[in-house]
Amino acid sequence: MMNILNSCFASRFSRVALTCCKEKPPGAVSALPSGHKLIPCRTQIHKALPVKCSGKLQLSSGLTMWTQVRFQKECPRLHRDINFPNFDAYRKDDYLDVRRTNWGSGDGKPGYTYIVSVFGLIGATYGAKSVVTHFISYMSAAADVLALASIEVDLSKVAAGGTVSFKWRGKPLFVKNRTQSDIDSEANTPMSALRDPQTPEQRAPNSEWLIVIGICTHLGCVPIPNSGDWPGGFYCPCHGSHYDNIGRIRKGPAPLNLEIPPYKFISETLVLVG
Ligand code: FES
Repeated sequence: MMNILNSCFASRFSRVALTCCKEKPPGAVSALPSGHKLIPCRTQIHKALPVKCSGKLQLSSGLTMWTQVRFQKECPRLHRDINFPNFDAYRKDDYLDVRRTNWGSGDGKPGYTYIVSVFGLIGATYGAKSVVTHFISYMSAAADVLALASIEVDLSKVAAGGTVSFKWRGKPLFVKNRTQSDIDSEANTPMSALRDPQTPEQRAPNSEWLIVIGICTHLGCVPIPNSGDWPGGFYCPCHGSHYDNIGRIRKGPAPLNLEIPPYKFISETLVLVG
């Protein structure tokens, strides 16, 4: 392919009257044969005369170029069979110079090409945004699921010392109203006595209220509130795990304390879970 292109390119230069370096050494420029013309580089080389030469040509500027003669020698059949047409009659004046490489750029570029580019970019951006939005909304949770993601618990309905169970994200949620005796009984428990050491302050910033997920950390049974060996604690009947009244595992096979969900107090009597 390159040979074809080169031969086509060279055919445009075949009419150039140049001095061959083999016929005429570069220093002997003044003694050019009759009918020959020395063409400085970067001029209208393609409008010059035929050249009978079998080598590279030395231009007056010192640059070296190859003529079709080289391709004639290396690919004679290819060169003779191809007669590259001249499309100059169909070209705009700006594009007649084949050596020009910045076609259609800069000040000579039509203004509408920028408009097309800008609107194309806007359209592509809008399309990409639509596709991304579609996929994000497709993968996010549905409205009914989001509605169940958090619940409000009215603490005024939980009596002192009592535990009320709610349903949160399909799990049982225990809300325990701790009495002062509950608080006092676990205030001084040493960490060394705990399998999963956590202080009461870590588990219940508002010491009066314990909010835990009512699922045993052993194999997932639902513990029974206010039962077990620890007063006000939780007891799992499946395999006999005992939790104290702040939900810490104290006895039995369960490895961890009852899980505490994310929650925050909205008011004195209202807490948002989830
Ligand atoms: Fe609760 Fe095994 S599931 S002790």
